[in-house]
Order: sequence, then structure tokens, then C-alpha cells
Amino acid sequence: MQRAELGTLAAGGLSMQQAEQLVENVIGRFSLPFAVATNFTINSRDYLVPMVIEEPSVVAACSFAAKLFRETGGFQTGSDEPLMIGQIQLLDLDDLPAAETQLRARETDILTQANTQAGSIQARGGGAIGLDFRTIPGTPVGDMLIVHLLFDARDAMGANAINSALEHIAPLVERITGGRVNLRILSNLSDRRMATARGVVRAKSLATDSTPGADVVSAIIEAGVFAECDPYRAATHNKGIMNGIDAVVLATGNDWRAVEAAAHAYAARDGHYTSLTRWWRDDVGDLHGEIALPLALGIVGGATRAHPAAKIALQMLGIESARELAEVAAAVGLAQNFAALRALATDGIQHGHMRMHARQLALAAGAVGGQVMQVAQQMVNEGNIRLERAKALIAGGFCDT
Ligand code: MEV
Repeated sequence: MQRAELGTLAAGGLSMQQAEQLVENVIGRFSLPFAVATNFTINSRDYLVPMVIEEPSVVAACSFAAKLFRETGGFQTGSDEPLMIGQIQLLDLDDLPAAETQLRARETDILTQANTQAGSIQARGGGAIGLDFRTIPGTPVGDMLIVHLLFDARDAMGANAINSALEHIAPLVERITGGRVNLRILSNLSDRRMATARGVVRAKSLATDSTPGADVVSAIIEAGVFAECDPYRAATHNKGIMNGIDAVVLATGNDWRAVEAAAHAYAARDGHYTSLTRWWRDDVGDLHGEIALPLALGIVGGATRAHPAAKIALQMLGIESARELAEVAAAVGLAQNFAALRALATDGIQHGHMRMHARQLALAAGAVGGQVMQVAQQMVNEGNIRLERAKALIAGGFCDT
């Protein structure tokens, strides 16, 4: 990384002028730490992973986890073609199957019309590629035919192109069916754009001073099954996964609300909210993990190129496609989940967390420079990690800087 790029990151990544070009009514900027997770080997390639996050311990835990997976060759990942789904809500139809047949018969025309809006995405080999249908009969507002436009977004997230295509084809859809179009908008349940990652951690690498590795493997598997079976646990389990994924999504200027919506909708796809990961043991007792979730990420368009820090993040990753970015994010999610389960199933998370929490309290109490570590350490030594104690230490002249 060049000195100028480091300078951009240290300055917060975004000038006031750039902020004003991104959204409306800007009165300032809001910075978060931009950190780098290390030790990631994915499909035999090493990555430095940019993460933007305010929560202590996440980056360290993720890097530690990646190191253990690296011992067995790192993560193996995969992804679907970048297919997004756009929805058109069609109402006031007398005969849903007949309307579907009429639209099927004119599919080529509809796709051709949609692709007049695909712009640079079509030039890169993407665009509208097909139609799908969902019938929802007997709703409180009558029968509905939902037309799904399948759209290959290539290296973009694709929201703008798809929404333009949907608005453009809606009048044609009405003419063909005699129905009335209401909504025309992409679906954030991007389950045609899945990313997967899996990896192995040796049981012997999991042994602690007090617990053999095989027992830690069992405890992690038990924790994983808990999340598979119980939505109350699954929500927290998946939140931990998203600690890692969102940090990469944010660093690369992507839409983390879209990614969150997709992940949780997918986790509830069978009508029962469950875990995004699976953990099991192999014949020699080592721990295997796998994650699968929709990841609609772009490396062109939106803030990915407009935000200077996002541009730097993408350069740091050295990735070639949106699919590769989704696969890196999936690997980070799996690493993060492993780190959380390992901590929870052994020492608990508060042990490491309180040290970082103490630093945050010291900062909140007004500590600056070297004072932060001194105040935090003192509170840890005393076992008294509270804002009032941090303030008292600073006011009482405890610090030597
Ligand atoms: C905290 O941000 C995330 C965890 O709660 C995740 C989990 O419980 O698996 C530690």
C-alpha cells in the first residue's frame, strides 16, 4: 500500500465534498476503524482482508481463526453466477395460469426490452436472462402473479440496473396480460447468488491447558447444533457470522443492509429460522465447518468506487470479480463463527472481551494517548471495569502521561 493510500485511510477515507455527493443533507462524516484481518488462505491464495467495524475483538478473533484453518490448507469456497431477482407485482388478473402462459410466450420480447436498460452490465456479458413466476392466490387484495426477472449483474450488485429494467418492462407486462402492475423492485432475498465456504481445523490445534482438543471439537459441534435447532440461539450465532461479513461488506463500500436482509431471510427459508453454518467431525476427529448464504456484492457501481477507502479495500484484496469478493466474505463469516463458538465453548467470550471493553471505557472517560492502555490495564487488574472507575482514575492523576 502506498503512503498516499495510508494517508487517505488515516484521514477517514471520505472528504466532506465526497460525502455530499453520496447522500443528502450532509453535515459531517462518521468514521469507523478500518482494520486488516490476516492469515486468510482461500482456494490456495493468500488474502489480506479489510474490515470496517467498531466492535472490539472481531478482527483479532477472525485472524486467529484463519490461522487455524490455514494449517489444513485454508478455506475452499464457491459461488453461483451473480444472478439477481427483480419482482413485478401483477394484480387484477382473472386467470393466473393463463397470464403466466401469455408472459412465457413473450419471454424473448420482455428480456430484449429489459436489456435495453442493462447498459455496461450487458456489455460485460450480463443482463436479463429469464423469467420465473410465483402465484399467490387469495390474498386480502386478491390473486397475485409475481413475475421474477432473473438478471445477471456480473460485477455489480445490480440494484439500479434491475430496478430500471423492471420499470421499463412493466407496461409491456400489463399489455400482454391485461393486468395491473403495482410494485417493480429487486428482491433482497438473492438466493440465486449464493456463496459457500468450508474448511477444517485440526482437533489437536483446539486443545487448551484444561481441555483436550477432542472435547473442544465436541463442544463446538454441540454449539452448532444448538443454533440449528433454536431460533433464539441462531439469531446470536448468525449475528456473530455477520460481525465478520458486514465488516468486509462495509469496507468495500457495499450495501450491508441488503446483505443482512438476504442472510436472515435465507436463514428462515424453511419457515424455521436456523443457523447459516454447519459443524461436524471427520473420521480422524478433526472439525469441519461450512457456510452458505446469499451474498449480493459488487466491485463496480455504488460506493465501491466512489468511496476512496472502499477503493483501497478492493485494491488490498486484489480480487478480480464480485464472485471472488462474495467468496472471501463467506470465508470470513465461517472464520468468525468458528472463533465465537470456540471462545464460547471454552473460556467464554468475556475474558478477552473485557480487556477491549476497558479500553473503550477509558476512551469514553476522556483518556488520551498512553493513558488509554494504562487506565484499561489498571481496571483489568482491579477487576473493576466501569466508566466511573475510568473517570476516577483519570481525575485522580493515576496516569503518568
Ligand atoms: C458478539 O458480537 C457475537 C457472539 O455473540 C456470537 C455468538 O454468540 O456466536 C459472540
